[in-house]
Amino acid sequence: MTEPFASIRKEFPFLLRQIDGHPIIYLDNAATSPKLQCVIDAVTGVYRNYTSNVHRGVHTLADEVTEAYEDARREIASFINASPSEIVFTRNSTEGINLVASGLGLRPDDEVVLTPAEHNSNYLPWNSRAKTVAVGMAEDGLPLYDEVEKFISPHTKLLTLAHVSNTTGIIAPVERWVEAAHRRGLPVLIDAAQSVSHVPLDVRALDCDYLVFSGHKILGPSGIGVLYGKRERLAALPLYQTGGGMVRYTAEDRFEVQDVPQRFEAGTPNIEGAIGLGAAVGWLRHLGMDKVMAHSKALGRHLVEGLCSIPGARVLACSAPLERRIGLATFSLDAPGFSPESIARLLCDRYQILVSGGYHCAHVLHDRLGLEGTVRISAHVFTTHEEIDRTLAALREIVG
Ligand SMILES: Cc1ncc(COP(=O)(O)O)c(C=O)c1O
Repeated sequence: MTEPFASIRKEFPFLLRQIDGHPIIYLDNAATSPKLQCVIDAVTGVYRNYTSNVHRGVHTLADEVTEAYEDARREIASFINASPSEIVFTRNSTEGINLVASGLGLRPDDEVVLTPAEHNSNYLPWNSRAKTVAVGMAEDGLPLYDEVEKFISPHTKLLTLAHVSNTTGIIAPVERWVEAAHRRGLPVLIDAAQSVSHVPLDVRALDCDYLVFSGHKILGPSGIGVLYGKRERLAALPLYQTGGGMVRYTAEDRFEVQDVPQRFEAGTPNIEGAIGLGAAVGWLRHLGMDKVMAHSKALGRHLVEGLCSIPGARVLACSAPLERRIGLATFSLDAPGFSPESIARLLCDRYQILVSGGYHCAHVLHDRLGLEGTVRISAHVFTTHEEIDRTLAALREIVG
């Protein structure tokens, strides 16, 4: 197997971590990803060089840090083919979804169409305000994406779905959802928390109305995320939070708000997070997202073919074409005594292989499948085929 990105591993200091004196194999990237050295440098550079706020100070360092913060916004905008004014910095994907959900004036009888495979962060913000209507699901957990039209009603206010499910690893046909929604004048929110690291994103081509992702899953810092919104969609949303930074002027009886995106960035933002995320995104852009996706798909194919050959393993969404899968697969084992948590623990304790075991915040999907959790193996750009082989060999040894 070719290892197209083996040489980049040295750019991740975390990959030198050991457990019990042994090197680790990190395959829990869907939970969170290691940080690049250039991200660590960008973040520490902010602490070292700029003790200053953005958009507020009147001195050289304030100018410099504001420029760096806005450069990061420009870099991120260009990464997803948006305009910088359409990029709102949030804390994470969850906050971006809540910002939109809280601004749409949803009522209990309104409906939001989604899939049963959504992460809780793209389920609860809707479910707590309106009715969620999930499309059907195949026996292996693959959402029946193509049936979306059947679930749109006169009560529907929005369609939303994960571009890549954090549980199945399948790339959803989001274009089809956007088309179905726009035919009826409805907006679509894409949860790109998982896809952003594996699939090239072009919000203009997708024509989605909103899109969210988190810095920590794309080799960047925690505590920073992005909400993309078409300019007119963002401008139509009511204020989310109020405070410093989002107003031009405040008098005792009135205040004048900034334009988007600043109007949604009340208070001192996560300056170092935004600048660190800009560095991560710039690094990936340089590497080339088409190549990143090809590697991710090759890892996904390798992983699923290997898992399917393990006796008793039930791989979620295995009916989906392999070319629609990123380097992520989730499975359960029909073998007594092997809970998902115990398998994850064994992989760590015996083999220093780090994966997830549990519900992956996709309770609805697991509930529908009658599963008390699954094991998730999730790769990133630095993952090698050799690591996948070693993980499969460890699993074979565990099941005997
Ligand atoms: C598909 C998906 N959506 C949303 C989220 C929430 O991301 P965050 O916790 O960074 O807000 C996750 C996190 O795992 C995810 O995988």
